[in-house]
Amino acid sequence: MEDIVYVDFDRMEGFIEDVFQALGVPEDDARICSRSIISADRIGVDSHGINRMKPFYYDRLRSGLQSPITRMEVVRETATTAVIDGHNGMGFVIGTRSMKMAIEKAREVGMGMVVVRESTHYGMAGYYSMMAAEAEMIGICGTNARPSVAPTYGTEGMLGTNPLAFGMPTDEGFPFLIDCATSIAQRGKVEMYDRIDKEIPEGWVVGRDGNIRTDTGAILQDMVKGDAALLPLGGVGVGSGGHKGYGYSTVVEILSSALQGGLFLKDITGMNVGHFFIAMDISAFTEPGDFKRTTGEILRTLRASGKAPGQERIYTAGEREYLTYLERKDIGVALNRSLQGDFILMGDELGISDKMPF
Ligand SMILES: NC(=O)c1ccc[n+]([C@@H]2O[C@H](COP(=O)([O-])OP(=O)(O)OC[C@H]3O[C@@H](n4cnc5c(N)ncnc54)[C@H](O)[C@@H]3O)[C@@H](O)[C@H]2O)c1
Repeated sequence: MEDIVYVDFDRMEGFIEDVFQALGVPEDDARICSRSIISADRIGVDSHGINRMKPFYYDRLRSGLQSPITRMEVVRETATTAVIDGHNGMGFVIGTRSMKMAIEKAREVGMGMVVVRESTHYGMAGYYSMMAAEAEMIGICGTNARPSVAPTYGTEGMLGTNPLAFGMPTDEGFPFLIDCATSIAQRGKVEMYDRIDKEIPEGWVVGRDGNIRTDTGAILQDMVKGDAALLPLGGVGVGSGGHKGYGYSTVVEILSSALQGGLFLKDITGMNVGHFFIAMDISAFTEPGDFKRTTGEILRTLRASGKAPGQERIYTAGEREYLTYLERKDIGVALNRSLQGDFILMGDELGISDKMPF
């Protein structure tokens, strides 16, 4: 086995679709799942792409913990809003169809908001906000997640890493996209350090005794037991603004549970999460061309502003993802030994190794 193999993105996407289908996910849904997963790798969000394929989706489907069939039930609906029960179906499918519904409502009446209960992991939140940006709309979405983040002055993992994502079209080749956890780091990043057997940086995780921890492998185990917790954006205490990340994380928790009658905080197992999706039709407010020009101007002005010593450039959110996309698109997705092993095992166990793209 080579240390790294590069696989064409479209071929990898096709194989992931084959894996999902072999696990019983219907063809159209399998396509939605594979497109969403590989889109994270395409733009460099490696923590939420094929890295998660085996532990999050394959293992859960194969063990029967997760159903391959997605049954979305609309439990309440108005012209602008909807409440969906996802019945623990595939998070990617629920997320994609819910944002599509919000976009359709926004097209009709200017804005749309769809909230979901009883869903499962839907990957990168920004994928759904980008769907709105691609439709010339502003997209906002978020989700709660398994408890792992301590409130300010606390040490117990209570909140999820609760990502919040905004996508907005611009007059540039790429949208404005801020898509990140409301914690300093998210679990996927700790898992990535574990895969390469490295200590995590200081300041990400607090132990039960209030001390900062960096022992990656033990942290992942202790997070499950409640003996280690991630810190909210801003970090420990209020001195560096930890209370602000804690507040935004709580906003995501509320919007992911209280509107939809869903579960929250410690009742979240990862198989019963809530999401929210908002689409705003720019043409209901102003000319989309004007909006995109002003937004682009704001971003260009920020990038052109004074740089800190030793820094050559300032980025705006969404830019690095676009640059990574350009850099990777002809090279393909990189699979380290551990990932190659995962895919070989999945192909063998499902009897589809003849379709393996590497
Ligand atoms: N589904 C879930 O339960 C769940 C939970 C947590 C996180 N996530 C996902 O994990 C992914 C990664 O989250 P993260 O918290 O590690 O994000 P991150 O720390 O990598 O930050 C990414 C964001 O910061 C922007 N950015 C990066 N460098 C920048 C710079 N120099 N200047 C301006 N902007 C910059 C990027 O454009 C992007 O919008 C996201 O896609 C998120 O949705 C999902």
